Amino acid sequence: MGFSYSQPVKIFFGAGERGRIGEIAASFGHKRALVIADGFLAANGVAGEIAKCAGTDAVFSAFGADPDISAADDAAKIARDIAADHIVAVGGGSAIDLGKFVAVAAKTGKSAEELFYGDIPEDGLPVIALPTTAGTGSEVTGVSVMSDGKRGVKKPLSSPAFFAEAAVVDPKLTLTVPPFVTATCGLDAIAHAVEAYWCRRHNPVSDAFAEKALKLLFGAIDRAYDDGSDISARTDMSMGALLAGLAFAPTRTAAVHACSYPLSEGFGLPHGEACAFTLDLFLRMNSRFDAERLTALAKTQGFASADAMADEIVRIKKKTGMRSTLKAIGCADIASLARECAVHPLMQNNIRAYSAEELAEAFGGLD
Ligand SMILES: [Fe+2]
Repeated sequence: MGFSYSQPVKIFFGAGERGRIGEIAASFGHKRALVIADGFLAANGVAGEIAKCAGTDAVFSAFGADPDISAADDAAKIARDIAADHIVAVGGGSAIDLGKFVAVAAKTGKSAEELFYGDIPEDGLPVIALPTTAGTGSEVTGVSVMSDGKRGVKKPLSSPAFFAEAAVVDPKLTLTVPPFVTATCGLDAIAHAVEAYWCRRHNPVSDAFAEKALKLLFGAIDRAYDDGSDISARTDMSMGALLAGLAFAPTRTAAVHACSYPLSEGFGLPHGEACAFTLDLFLRMNSRFDAERLTALAKTQGFASADAMADEIVRIKKKTGMRSTLKAIGCADIASLARECAVHPLMQNNIRAYSAEELAEAFGGLD
């Protein structure tokens, strides 16, 4: 089987690496940064600390959990006004996704709306991404999830332009993440690894990243949830999420993520909880179509079968208080949810593209 694997992002990993931001930016020849960090990091001083390391006082934090294209226009204007030559994006997926999008808007001068609904030129300011959660993998993927609140549209945009120049992964930045967010981000990362493994575009390199990512994530998620100050658990989670990102960056995700969008938009589930909602279900369903590979994957993780691995995911969801029934999320129209999930483009990347009827039947078991 022929395949290719490439990954353009330079990775710096280690506790305390955030202190080297200025040095890293200088090594690329950059001089003036716009820092994009969410409001929580602006309030607790982390954004200011990183801005200081980056040698700037320009920090943009006027955006929410689902970054809107209007915020991208505002940030791009600031980047142009201060003649920023790079973006430092600090935060969870929202801040990094916004940072990558702003980088293209600022460099090309195109409006965020033009980019959101049109073609994305392969041209942007360089981005240095610092994840503060162990989950999205956005620091090593070419994906930016943005929203147009005016029209009620949220979508993942994929482009080579959305690869950061560098990812600076400092597990110490995750020490203050609350337990529930630690769990949802952790299950998002587990979903990235599992989906990279079972999706149609998987290859031996992404498989290897996925296996190692799962080993770290399954081994550390309880410890990181139980004691957020456990730096060893946080380091494993950060490394696991990074490797899961490297696994799915070229393969993209599949059924679990296809369903996560309708679940987040329709019922307000955070991204990780929305992925966790169907992860064990699709692990059981997909293993019927590729029992050999998924049993082999489960065995690399110390489980006897794919079903046993799904049981472990259910255990984590229950322990951490995630919703796992349609009733709990307030969904009464199974057929409509199933239709939205079936038509999502990522469903076509699943080992089997389930029909709306098949999904409705499967979701019927989640009552
Ligand atoms: Fe995800």
